[in-house]
Amino acid sequence: MHALAIGKNLEKMFSLENKVILLTGAAGGIGEVLAKGLAGAGGEMALCDIALDRLAVVEKAIKDAGDSAKSYEMNVMKLDSIHSCVEKIIADFGRIDVLINCAGINKREGFLDVEEETYDRIMDINLKGLYFLSQDVAKHMMKAGKGNIINMASHNSVAMLGGCSVYGASKSGVSALTRSMAVEWAQYGIRANALAPGHILTPLTTVTWDHPERSKYLKERIAMQRPGTPEELVGVTVMLASDASSYMSGMMVHIDGGCLAGGTPWDYDTKY
Ligand SMILES: NC(=O)c1ccc[n+]([C@@H]2O[C@H](COP(=O)([O-])OP(=O)(O)OC[C@H]3O[C@@H](n4cnc5c(N)ncnc54)[C@H](O)[C@@H]3O)[C@@H](O)[C@H]2O)c1
Repeated sequence: MHALAIGKNLEKMFSLENKVILLTGAAGGIGEVLAKGLAGAGGEMALCDIALDRLAVVEKAIKDAGDSAKSYEMNVMKLDSIHSCVEKIIADFGRIDVLINCAGINKREGFLDVEEETYDRIMDINLKGLYFLSQDVAKHMMKAGKGNIINMASHNSVAMLGGCSVYGASKSGVSALTRSMAVEWAQYGIRANALAPGHILTPLTTVTWDHPERSKYLKERIAMQRPGTPEELVGVTVMLASDASSYMSGMMVHIDGGCLAGGTPWDYDTKY
């Protein structure tokens, strides 16, 4: 009896029912899993990406599970595409309650090898696209007097990896923009937080984890000594998207198996 009452309270607190959620990068390794997880918690998903074939597969899977999703083409590198997509979503749903900026790219290259085109592409998608999409959506949220923005940052927002200078700068920028949004838009009922995943196993990162030396190097620097899965990001994302985190703004939550905390060999002998 008591346990059931607590369960109902938890369900209500973390529910995403009646929340329209715009998710970019929804066709990606992390985006797909977040889309399904948030839809499963009751969210009405507006799925955005440039990879339309893949997006259709995600939409179908969500609908087959009895949940709500609709796909939209959005290229976050192009302001026209951002504007028209946001207008379509507003026309279809009437509002956007939660914006999740998840689209992002990386290209590993040494500092001296990066050319202007690569620099611009990473910055345009990871930082500029996030900036102007948030600006567009925030205008609608301000009219509604409420809103919630979740930005996909990274372990690289804080700790750098070789070959990721532009990516690291873009994700440090995401962390900074998250705090600016929280500060400027609190008066309009909008809060903003960032998620900073550590090393997450997706099709893009399998090559690193399959590499004997690279994976050994990484494991020794993660307290839990393993990569995370996209599924392990869902719980915190539901918390951030729901009213359970209603007094939380301007924060970056690290989900990294203790990577930021540090790492040690598990057979460490304390005598030495
Ligand atoms: N995988 C990790 O270990 C990890 C760790 C920390 C942070 N992240 C961040 O999480 C987010 C998702 O990463 P992922 O691993 O799922 O990557 P992914 O490559 O699997 O997915 C990225 C998605 O973004 C979309 N996209 C690319 N360019 C776009 C554009 N111009 N407009 C709209 N959509 C575009 C792609 O089509 C793809 O579906 C990214 O922001 C990434 O930086 C990932």
